[in-house]
Amino acid sequence: MTDLTPQKDAALAAIADAASLEALDEQRVAALGKKGWVSLALKTLGGMSPDERQVAAPAIQAVRAEIADAIDAKKAALEAAELEAQLASETLDLTLPAPATPQGSVHPVSQVMDELAEIFADLGFSVATGPEIEDDWHNFTALNMDESHPARAMHDTFYFPDAAPDSGKMLLRTHTSPVQIRSMKEQGAPIRLIAPGRVYRSDSDATHTPMFHQVEGLVVDRDIHLGHLKWTLETFFKAFFEREDITLRLRPSYFPFTEPSVEVDVGYSNEGNRRVVGGHGDAEGHDWMELGGSGMVNRRVLEMAGVDPDEYQGFAFGLGIDRIAMLKYGMNDLRAFFDGDPRWLSHYGFAAVDQPTLSAGVGAAS
Ligand code: PHE
Repeated sequence: MTDLTPQKDAALAAIADAASLEALDEQRVAALGKKGWVSLALKTLGGMSPDERQVAAPAIQAVRAEIADAIDAKKAALEAAELEAQLASETLDLTLPAPATPQGSVHPVSQVMDELAEIFADLGFSVATGPEIEDDWHNFTALNMDESHPARAMHDTFYFPDAAPDSGKMLLRTHTSPVQIRSMKEQGAPIRLIAPGRVYRSDSDATHTPMFHQVEGLVVDRDIHLGHLKWTLETFFKAFFEREDITLRLRPSYFPFTEPSVEVDVGYSNEGNRRVVGGHGDAEGHDWMELGGSGMVNRRVLEMAGVDPDEYQGFAFGLGIDRIAMLKYGMNDLRAFFDGDPRWLSHYGFAAVDQPTLSAGVGAAS
C-alpha cells in the first residue's frame, strides 16, 4: 500500500494556507472530490486482498477524516474572518435621521367622529347613518317644515334638477335631522342614537364651508324631559373636552322640529388667540359660544315618523362637528379642513393607532 502521508501533509499545508473560501474549496475538490486523491485511494481497496484491505481501509479513512476536519475548521475560520471584515467596514451612523415612517394620518373630523361614537356608546347610544342625497320630505316636510315654511329659506339648500315630475324633489341634506325620521320609521320607539355625517349648504366664508359635518342626537322614550337633554350634553362635553368645569347655557330658540327649542352655548375664555372651553360664560374674561341647536322633539315630528306622541317624548340635538373639533384641537380656519393640504394634515392629523377610548382619554393623544 502506498503511503499517503506526504500527500496528506501537503494537503493539510495547502488547506492551512487557503486565503479564501474559493481557494479552500479547490483543496476540498483536489482531495475529497470524485477524482480527488483520497477518493482514488479508496478505490484501490477493491483490488486488495482481504488482509491488505483490513489494514489499508482504516488508514485511508483516517486520512480522509483528518482532511475533512481540517477543511471544516478552516472554513469556519475563513467565514468568521469574513464577517469580522464586513463588520469592520460597515458603519452605522446614528446621527442620520430615522428612516421614513409610514405616511398618512387620520383627519381631525374622522378622529372626532370616533370620539363621539366612543363617548355616546358609553351612554347607550348607537350610531345611525342616512343618505347625503336626501328627498325633500325627510329633510323638511317630516321635520315640520312643509313647502311654504319660511324656515326652509334659512337652509340655503342645494337642490337637484327634478328627476321625474312625480318624484320628490331631491337635495343635498342640509342637516342630519332627516336621520331622526328615517331611524324612527325603521326602529320605532324607544330609541337612542347619534348620527354623524356630512351636510351641505350654499354658504362659504372663514367659518362656513358648503359641506360641513354635524352630529345629530335623538332620544325617544317615556317621560323624557329637557333635564335629560341638558345632562346628556353636559356629560358629553365633559368627556369630550376632558374637563369638569364645563358650563352650558340653554337659550330659548326656534326650530320647527322641536318644541320647546333651545340653543346650546358653552362658556369659554381666550388664551392667546385660542378659545379654551371651560368656566362660566359670564365670568371675568369669559364669554359664551354657540355649539348647536336642540330641543324636545315636536309631537308632529313623532307623528310623522310613526311614533305615538301621547306615549313617547324625546329630545334631539344637532352639533357642528367641525366647530367642536376646532375648539378642541386649536384650529382657526374651517376652510383648511377641506383643502387636502398634506402639511395641514401632518400637523393636525392623528396616527392610525390613536384610537379614542374612554379609559385612555378620548382625545389626549395627538
Ligand atoms: N338641524 C338643526 C340645524 O341644522 C339643529 C337641530 C337638531 C336643532 C336637532 C334641534 C334639534 O340647525
